[in-house]
Amino acid sequence: MAYEATFGDVLRSQGVSRRAFLKFCSTTASLLALPAGTATAMAEALSETRRPSVIWLSFQECTGCTEALTRSHAPTIENLMFNFISLDYHHTLQAAAGEAAEHAREEAERENAGKYLVLVDGSVPMLEYCSTVAGISNKAMLEDACTNAAAVINIGTCSAYGGIPVAKPNPTQAVSVGHIIKDKPIVNVPGCPPMPLAITGVIAQYLTLGKLPELDHLGRPVAFFGENIHDRCYRRPFYDRGQFAETFDDEGARKGWCLYKLGCKAPVTYNACAHLKWNNGVSFPIQSGHGCLGCSEPGFWDMGGVYESVATGKFGDGTRLGAAALAGAALGAGAAVLARRKKAHVHEEDAG
Ligand code: SF4
Ligand code: SF4
Ligand code: F3S
Repeated sequence: MAYEATFGDVLRSQGVSRRAFLKFCSTTASLLALPAGTATAMAEALSETRRPSVIWLSFQECTGCTEALTRSHAPTIENLMFNFISLDYHHTLQAAAGEAAEHAREEAERENAGKYLVLVDGSVPMLEYCSTVAGISNKAMLEDACTNAAAVINIGTCSAYGGIPVAKPNPTQAVSVGHIIKDKPIVNVPGCPPMPLAITGVIAQYLTLGKLPELDHLGRPVAFFGENIHDRCYRRPFYDRGQFAETFDDEGARKGWCLYKLGCKAPVTYNACAHLKWNNGVSFPIQSGHGCLGCSEPGFWDMGGVYESVATGKFGDGTRLGAAALAGAALGAGAAVLARRKKAHVHEEDAG
């Protein structure tokens, strides 16, 4: 159990240079909109941080959230931080099994009462026979683990909002963590899976500044979920000009035109994909040629088909996505119509 290495020790043992570490801190501080000078303080505090106690609970999930963090392109500081913090209890990664694993969890909760974090991926089935670990129902384990926790961080859309398991007809009667835990600070880091930098950014802020980030109306860190993907999309000029791919193999698709008509949900989706991107900034779904599914929004599986346009109005009903997102969608659709009219007018003039 005892593991007294600091995060700085872990980085050094993995050959991570001070320069790379400072860059990580500076990027994280800037993404979190922290005051100038925080990056250096963050680096110093993180370097000296001793292993924080983290209980990671996995319920109805696909392991994609854990995979996103641990299977990163290279031994990044993000996944080194993950290795550093997640030693107490993790269903998928822990070495201990059976009673020894449960004993480790209970001991960590007892020894670090009031200080440890609970990270959760997966939704919680209310039908108890659907999911138990060590004979304990998911709901009971969550309640027990959260009793003395400092805060809860939901990793992924499943734990944040229910995700795929709550898709109709929700056969396990799954719910989000927030549906059960009402008396602890909860941060939602949604996405299916979420961006690793968003996860580690929240944890880094908590470890260095001792506080959780500012959240939006859906409990997400504003720093990572405050911007609409559509507003940062590199295909946006095509959208504004009314140039849309109609199929995945037409000329428009080959030219990289907007994927709005092919079901891109980004106009009503808030996440950092378009500017942070995945795999160390290599790409994101839209760049790979597929529209955004809206995976960081509540209920995204039940809000219209994957290839249906947001113009159908099914994605977001005004109560779950928020007025700003819907206004963005309406404006976007309006802009597209105007752009198409303008284009048609130009063509008519050309023809005339
Ligand atoms: Fe898997 Fe997505 Fe749920 Fe994460 S949010 S556990 S990636 S289904
Ligand atoms: Fe990009 Fe999608 Fe917006 Fe088109 S609709 S500009 S592909 S985000
Ligand atoms: Fe998810 Fe859309 Fe980003 S599908 S990963 S929020 S581009």
